Amino acid sequence: MILGAGGHGKAVLDLLLTPGGSGRFEVVGLVDAVVRPPAAVLGRPVLGDEGLLPALRAAGVTDAAPAIGDNGARAAAGARLGALGFALPALVHPAAVVGRGAEIGAGAVVMARVTIGPEARIGPLALINTGAIVEHDCVVGEAAHVAPGAVLTGGVRVGAHAFVGAGAVVRPRVRIGAAALVGAGAAVVDDVPDGARVTGVPARAGG
Ligand SMILES: CC(C)(COP(=O)(O)OP(=O)(O)OC[C@H]1O[C@@H](n2cnc3c(N)ncnc32)[C@H](O)[C@@H]1OP(=O)(O)O)[C@@H](O)C(=O)NCCC(=O)NCCS
Repeated sequence: MILGAGGHGKAVLDLLLTPGGSGRFEVVGLVDAVVRPPAAVLGRPVLGDEGLLPALRAAGVTDAAPAIGDNGARAAAGARLGALGFALPALVHPAAVVGRGAEIGAGAVVMARVTIGPEARIGPLALINTGAIVEHDCVVGEAAHVAPGAVLTGGVRVGAHAFVGAGAVVRPRVRIGAAALVGAGAAVVDDVPDGARVTGVPARAGG
């Protein structure tokens, strides 16, 4: 069961429907706060709103994917699903490359063409989006989002709920603080404080 029938929910469903990507999972459908016709995504039904979740669990649906792009909303959805007894599997696209000793937390999603280097650690509910590179020894915090094509070079640390925009590049061993935002295309050469927002080349506060 996928919670979230928007763009990210569609991408997670696409991952699960890709041969080799679904593994042990059969997709029952999606659930969303708002159900608008046509109530289907990629041919799978949008079953209803969150009120359905206890019945789905009782009916034997075991696993759920909180598929909401916003980091805070995804973390909250993960907590609600866990409290209802759903397992939150890590989902890794079959076209991703994951290095030796890398760890991927519960509920994290690793999209197509991602490369994760050896001994990198991806936190629970983190989203490593299409084509991103997370090099060796990086640590990506809980419910953080590394957007499409972003590059975290070796040993970068990304705090919980932080967002690294599409195509951004982060210099080795830089620390990006919790809930910080890095704009698309930025080159991050210095540490970014918790909650800060940086953009540009080199990245500076503001934007
Ligand atoms: C940085 C960002 C969050 C700013 O969004 P915003 O608050 O809506 O900002 P605005 O579009 O109003 O732009 C404000 C100013 O910042 C500039 N700006 C916006 N994004 C920028 C970026 N990524 N790099 C450099 N400058 C940027 C704008 O040109 C504008 O400058 P101006 O005031 O001189 O005209 C956003 O542009 C961004 O980069 N988001 C990441 C998108 C992404 O990667 N999504 C992935 C989804 S999977």
